[in-house]
Amino acid sequence: MHYSGEVLRVIIYTGKGGVGKTSVSAATALRCAKMGYRTIAVSTDSAHSLADSLDVPLTGNITKVVENLDAIEVDVIHEMETRWKEIGQYMSDFMVSQGLDPISAKEMTVWPGMELMSALFYIEEFKKSGRYDVVVMDTAPTAETLRLLSFPDTANWYIDKFYKMFKNTVRLARATIGMVMSTPLPSDAFLKDLDNLKDRMKVVRDILLDSETTSVRLVLNPEKMVINETKRAYTYLCLYNLTVECLVINRVLPEGARGQYPNAKFEEQERYMQMIDESFAPMKMLRSYLSTTEVIGMGSLEILAEQLFGDTDPSQVYTKEKSMDIYTEGGVDMLALKLPFSSKEQVELYKTNDVLIVKVGWFKRSVILPYALVQKEASKAEFKDGHLIISFK
Ligand SMILES: Nc1ncnc2c1ncn2[C@@H]1O[C@H](COP(=O)(O)OP(=O)(O)OP(=O)(O)O)[C@@H](O)[C@H]1O
Ligand SMILES: [Mg+2]
Repeated sequence: MHYSGEVLRVIIYTGKGGVGKTSVSAATALRCAKMGYRTIAVSTDSAHSLADSLDVPLTGNITKVVENLDAIEVDVIHEMETRWKEIGQYMSDFMVSQGLDPISAKEMTVWPGMELMSALFYIEEFKKSGRYDVVVMDTAPTAETLRLLSFPDTANWYIDKFYKMFKNTVRLARATIGMVMSTPLPSDAFLKDLDNLKDRMKVVRDILLDSETTSVRLVLNPEKMVINETKRAYTYLCLYNLTVECLVINRVLPEGARGQYPNAKFEEQERYMQMIDESFAPMKMLRSYLSTTEVIGMGSLEILAEQLFGDTDPSQVYTKEKSMDIYTEGGVDMLALKLPFSSKEQVELYKTNDVLIVKVGWFKRSVILPYALVQKEASKAEFKDGHLIISFK
């Protein structure tokens, strides 16, 4: 059992479109609440379906669902109009100064990341307030979610640039007092907001990367395309240094349904189950079965939770294994990145000062190197047991 305010547990469900993320998230949250954890289910998918799944009305404000269970469907327009007001106002003034139409909060929602950022900031708030023991996050299909989860790094970079730009604008304005400035000066409140944003982003990042707190669970179905996308997602999640702790195999044909489906369907499933095993073992695997009816409402969600967790605790940490490690071996500094399903050919390494950029396909991750590695060159990279091991000389 977690104690108020001391330990926060964050479980993020992700996976390909339609595999059952929302259903599994709702079932997990419901079961956590039943066990006495103060729980919140957070939907970060702009095409929200958490309310449908729980069969209760939800909004962009936190709503009580049942005893110990709250839920929210993060609404960017609402967030922009309330929590990001100063930044929104300045953006709008800036647009006008450039002879453009002012932008409304509504238009800002098309900027990638705004919704995702809002959702992550909720977690930071919950951590601070100790209001919940467990946060269950239901996410959009994989590609968008990968952006979300790599977001703290990217956002930090942008905010830094942004911040410097505005600080310089202020300095310039002071130096050229009396001159007509075509660009509106950011207000103090805006600069404070930006400062605040930077600090909070760091906290979000720490929460996401702390394997005691946050883990990602990959939801999939025993289908070829789904398995392939899940493997890809796993690689990138590891690249972002998140802890992927388990796999949820949903929509498995139950043995009891042998008579209802052709035999070939079961044989096919067997092959795919083996493929899953070869791709993810020894990862913890949870299983739930194809239901003949839609999984909607508390009753069906409880059945789903029962299949997945039996009488075990759904908020337990299945593994804390980190996917990046920095250590010294025989006097040589090493950086090990767990990159399953990658081969050496796909990986490109670049190092500039304290940043190591690892490219796998079109995804990119920049790793800030510890001081000890900054002066060194990445001299060798080899694949060993699903890890890319880079030596520094
Ligand atoms: N085990 C199951 N058996 C039968 N139907 C299921 C099962 N799990 C989920 N469903 C149904 O499949 C549909 C999609 O499920 P769900 O919304 O949970 O998936 P999702 O991964 O969140 O989808 P999206 O990517 O669109 O957000 C829903 O109608 C849901 O009721
Ligand atoms: Mg969904």
